[in-house]
Amino acid sequence: MPRRLVTDRLTLRPPTRDDASSIWAYASDPVATRYMVWPTHVDRDDVDDHLDDVADGWAAGDDFAYVIALSDPGDVVGMVSAQFSDDGVEIGFIVARAHQRRGIATEAATAVMQAVQSLDDVYRIWASSDADNPASAGVLRGLDMQFEGCLRRRSARPNRADVIGPQDDHIYAWVR
Ligand SMILES: CC(C)(COP(=O)(O)OP(=O)(O)OC[C@H]1O[C@@H](n2cnc3c(N)ncnc32)[C@H](O)[C@@H]1OP(=O)(O)O)[C@@H](O)C(=O)NCCC(=O)NCCS
Repeated sequence: MPRRLVTDRLTLRPPTRDDASSIWAYASDPVATRYMVWPTHVDRDDVDDHLDDVADGWAAGDDFAYVIALSDPGDVVGMVSAQFSDDGVEIGFIVARAHQRRGIATEAATAVMQAVQSLDDVYRIWASSDADNPASAGVLRGLDMQFEGCLRRRSARPNRADVIGPQDDHIYAWVR
């Protein structure tokens, strides 16, 4: 995958240590992280561990996480990722609360999808969303993905205090 993707409003690139404060801002937000499968960050070490994991993914060549930076003025407002496995390529995204509902996730994920779609040997790009997460569903519908179904009680949601046990996942996919 390219290390840099540029859209009308955004630059996508691998994170650096200088992005730690921006990542902390959304990763420690209980609202922004409510539906994520990873726990809300409670400690700056959580960000360091996350950055180590992201660097490992780029080095291994199978998990490509990009920070979403506004082209002007350059603020980092979220992250979008493409993880390659035998199940296809899984897309994920998060946008800081102050920047939501401006089309940023759609614009960023579209750029990543297009880069993945340019690879001839990729036949499936998919995403998994908490069944209760309308924002994620909104993005995925806009990405030319189709709803495939519900995998019941599939994923732990460590940041939801309102539910008990694993929650239902909605699966969306684009296939060649
Ligand atoms: C999901 C998330 C990334 C969407 O980011 P965003 O930049 O606000 O999304 P967009 O502005 O591109 O919106 C895309 C579509 O979703 C809809 N949408 C966005 N937020 C919504 C909400 N809270 N409720 C209902 N629909 C919503 C938009 O209206 C838009 O639909 P449209 O094209 O028909 O107008 C953001 O809400 C977020 O980070 N949430 C927390 C993390 C998360 O849930 N990640 C997904 C895990 S799979």
